[in-house]
Amino acid sequence: MTTTDESAAASAGVPVAASAGVPVAASAGVPVAASAGVPAAVRIRALRRSYGDVTALDGVDLDFAAGTFTAVMGPSGSGKSTLLQCAAGLDRPTSGTVTVDGTDLGGLSERRLTLLRRERIGFVFQAFNLLPSLTAAQNVALPMRLAGRRPSRAAVRQALARVGLAERAGHRPAQLSGGQQQRVALARALITRPAVLFGDEPTGALDTTTSRDVLALLRELVDREGQTTVMVTHDPVAAAYADRVVFLVDGRLHGELAGASAEGVASYMAGLERGASGGASVGVKAAGSVVDGERAAC
Ligand SMILES: Nc1ncnc2c1ncn2[C@@H]1O[C@H](COP(=O)(O)OP(=O)(O)OP(=O)(O)O)[C@@H](O)[C@H]1O
Ligand SMILES: [Mg+2]
Repeated sequence: MTTTDESAAASAGVPVAASAGVPVAASAGVPVAASAGVPAAVRIRALRRSYGDVTALDGVDLDFAAGTFTAVMGPSGSGKSTLLQCAAGLDRPTSGTVTVDGTDLGGLSERRLTLLRRERIGFVFQAFNLLPSLTAAQNVALPMRLAGRRPSRAAVRQALARVGLAERAGHRPAQLSGGQQQRVALARALITRPAVLFGDEPTGALDTTTSRDVLALLRELVDREGQTTVMVTHDPVAAAYADRVVFLVDGRLHGELAGASAEGVASYMAGLERGASGGASVGVKAAGSVVDGERAAC
């Protein structure tokens, strides 16, 4: 695999574009459009989700353009996981709409939603959620087998090859490193070639080096296969692997950076933490702007 090399190439030092100080449109509640000419793999409108008295999402408008890599950041409790769960059809919004690959999730029965989730949506979590008694290949095949389908050995092998684990198909999770286990989870999520891959802190349980390898793999899947990817992270270095970083505060979209460096992301987060609600003095790309800045990894 050349993921590390490709990551290094992707992060080659171009001046920071995201800190150039373009006014934000997203924080004014304007829908963040997909890049011109690129269809949205996921379209979110007026999304609200309440749990009793708690408003986790308070009217989010967001598009995730096909073939792009988006990081979602924000303080703890700002609604990041809720956003992903609603966007992935794992949770039902209180109001608003989520459209994945052209299908409005709100109009689907539980059965059809389950089918769409199985076929069109991939999800990886901080915990790898692999079954310890199964081999890597069996873990990758498991969701399809539970759905009554038996993926071919070639399909499973190919899924493992896409994450650089072709040689480890017969290993059990305990025989694999943390990063390799997360790669198996990725292969499991990607075997159906989903329209979008969601990750909720997918590198949160990994050490720095292993985390960078998994991030480089995610980046490579976007660049090589056009895999639309949306990842929640608390790590500015992780976020810098993405084309775009969107920031949530109190269940609302606060702003976004395009092609940001880790420093640019950290600076934005520091602005949020200083309590600059609605007025962080950091540069933000206008909504939907084309990414042509750096993608610094460190
Ligand atoms: N099932 C639930 N029942 C009640 N409240 C919930 C539930 N899920 C989330 N919340 C609340 O909604 C808000 C947003 O939670 P969410 O998990 O989306 O935040 P987050 O941004 O992912 O936080 P973190 O960075 O800590 O993971 C929080 O106030 C949380 O307590
Ligand atoms: Mg969370």
